[in-house]
Amino acid sequence: MSTDDGPEGLTLVGSTEQSTRTDIAGDVRVGLTSMPKWLPCIYFYDDAGSELFEQICELPEYYPTRTERSILETHADALVAHVQHRVDLVELGSGSATKTRLVVEALLRRHGELRFIPVDISRSILEESSRSLVEDYDRLEVHAVAGEYHDGLDYLKQQGAPPRLILWLGSNVGNFQRPDATHFLQRLHSTMRAEDRLLIGIDLRKEATVLEAAYDDAAGVTAAFNKNLLTRLNADLSADFDLDRFVHQSRWNAAEGRVEMHLVSQGRQSVCIKGIDLTVEFEDGESIHTENAYKYSAEEIESLATSAHFEAECQWLDEAQRFSVNLWKPRS
Ligand code: AVJ
Repeated sequence: MSTDDGPEGLTLVGSTEQSTRTDIAGDVRVGLTSMPKWLPCIYFYDDAGSELFEQICELPEYYPTRTERSILETHADALVAHVQHRVDLVELGSGSATKTRLVVEALLRRHGELRFIPVDISRSILEESSRSLVEDYDRLEVHAVAGEYHDGLDYLKQQGAPPRLILWLGSNVGNFQRPDATHFLQRLHSTMRAEDRLLIGIDLRKEATVLEAAYDDAAGVTAAFNKNLLTRLNADLSADFDLDRFVHQSRWNAAEGRVEMHLVSQGRQSVCIKGIDLTVEFEDGESIHTENAYKYSAEEIESLATSAHFEAECQWLDEAQRFSVNLWKPRS
């Protein structure tokens, strides 16, 4: 662990490695020797991947970011008014923290000063966004944590301090299998006290065409994001994936209520992953399943809250009911 004192008002803690507890070698071995083949989506977010994700957020087809932002624009003051106390603002997976600014500004309007604790796996994005936040807001103190969600949870457990508003935006919860989402939220719940609140952005179920396009844009940015995973394996594990022989695909799986991203092998091929001494054979059309993005109905959001010991305090939707922002409080 290291602590950097950056510009005034900014502290950064966390591992200097890309990430603390991940085991890319072990995970790749498990995933690519499984049937069907898969890889954990956490490995998308190296510096290049995090940058590509920022570009995805600006795409016309990728409605979640834009929609969530508009909900926050409309309701930031209302949601902040629900939070009685002066709070520390925490964000899991803060990324560029662009939408967060809306909440930061609303809290600054209400309380005059604020401490913000962003947690993100990409140290470079975290550093950049934290610097620009302290530059832009005088009365803001940023205490950044470079690491995974559980590093953030550990950090939260250690801190006494004032009540907290915890943000988990962008429908990041959608990357978890449904039971795992419940478990993670239960763990988050166990770090929270009665006055703490969770603001969670959850994408809603909708037509397949809209969903599939959101994960397969015309400009090919999502394809590049997906394939960056192979570039990363080539670099980090001395693999020899031929990027031209894998095709990006997004599939709406209606039974599971999720969009899946795949990398589909064009022709039979074998790929050598020297760094872990593994050769992987691909059939023509065989895929590597690289991501799930689960979508929720109103009922599924209710039952997620209940099963994780939360109670919905308020919910805000956009007019077209594409996306939801939910304020949850812990049930005692
Ligand atoms: C950041 C996980 C919420 O699933 O919508 C976007 C990631 N992947 N396009 C999502 C993603 C492809 C995104 N999350």
